[in-house]
Amino acid sequence: MKILAIETSCDETAVAILECTGDLDAARFNVLGNALYSQAEKHSEYGGVYPNLAKREHAANFTPLLQAALAEAEMLMANHEPLSVEQCETLGELLSREADLANALIDFTSEFEVPDIDAIAVTHGPGLEPALWVGLNAARALSYLWNKPIIPTNHIEGHIVSSLTLPNPKGGFDLVDVRMPTLALIVSGGHTELVYMTDWFDYRIIGGTRDDAAGEAFDKFARMLGLPYPGGPEISKLAEKARREGINSKITLPRPMLTSADCDFSFSGLKTAALYSLREYESEHGLMGDREKKGFAREFEEAVIDVLVAKTRKALSQHKSGTLVIGGGVSASKALRVSLQEMADKNFPDMDCAASVPSLATDNAVMIGMAAFMREISEQVPNLSFEELRAQGNLKLQ
Ligand code: KG4
Ligand code: ZN
Repeated sequence: MKILAIETSCDETAVAILECTGDLDAARFNVLGNALYSQAEKHSEYGGVYPNLAKREHAANFTPLLQAALAEAEMLMANHEPLSVEQCETLGELLSREADLANALIDFTSEFEVPDIDAIAVTHGPGLEPALWVGLNAARALSYLWNKPIIPTNHIEGHIVSSLTLPNPKGGFDLVDVRMPTLALIVSGGHTELVYMTDWFDYRIIGGTRDDAAGEAFDKFARMLGLPYPGGPEISKLAEKARREGINSKITLPRPMLTSADCDFSFSGLKTAALYSLREYESEHGLMGDREKKGFAREFEEAVIDVLVAKTRKALSQHKSGTLVIGGGVSASKALRVSLQEMADKNFPDMDCAASVPSLATDNAVMIGMAAFMREISEQVPNLSFEELRAQGNLKLQ
């Protein structure tokens, strides 16, 4: 099955084309085309993602990315038949709020043949609604013009499924041997959740953040240190240097909710503690220099990791799991992966650990295509009409 996948839930505009084969036990994903544009630099001056700017950028970049992904998949074929007046009108209605996107898609679909795909997968939530709408509207327009079904896909499910794959020698990805029940730790800019799966798509949320997500905490902390958005990778780099150079901070930060009885998280207190510590340090010593910044980044990263690892351990001791999987942007952190692996080896030696290749950890469209395929073969695609297919900022796993 060939799937065109679209992701626009946050600040990455992404289009991928996947050829998917196999079944729930042995799925195989061949990436035929993959185009991604990160708007991170554009949002940098706001210190976070600015929804209306994200929407505009998605709309401007979608069609060129679609073209690039289809070209890479060798699916761009010139077509000399222009769209009918009726098609242009319907497209105009479907994209009534996005005239530029409508015009770009009219030009594109008039110029090129219908590609050899079987379905269009698109993220319908969770995420920023103005951003999600761009992908959804584009998917609806292409679905109408090309007569292809839509597979509405949950962004978090994309993180989970893609983290359960490994690269194969042919340049694609194979599903790992997933032993259910599986526990997923999802750590991204918008989410920090422990999800227990007794089977595919059978979810129970057993822990979550009460305030900031882990990635959000990294982004806000990085901003305090004057580092660009997204802050997670910047903090990771500084912390790594501190470890290599044997630098420890003079500052000690709290590990919020480390010993609470539940599997929940809270990172906003940690962020506030970091801010007060920074102010106190600077009132005593003046501006923080590079060396102390490295140590401070190390301390902050270790505080976040200590809590993530302790709560994952607690969840595993209460919910027997065959596989532990980590996904979401923060799972790109090598330090987090190493700490989780050490905890697992020590306490749950029979359990398998899974994580995606780093390039699939942060937002992309490949993961959306992967999750859509797993839904398709388990016959659990949400049955939504065109009208019901809406951006759902708070979409839950279900
Ligand atoms: O999954 P993702 O790309 O987008 C959302 O769905 O939110 O996650 C983005 C988040 C950002 O907060 C970013 O700072 C964080 O993931 N991140 C990291 C690392 N790479 C990305 N956090 C810590 N360490 C990293 N290496
Ligand atoms: Zn994400």
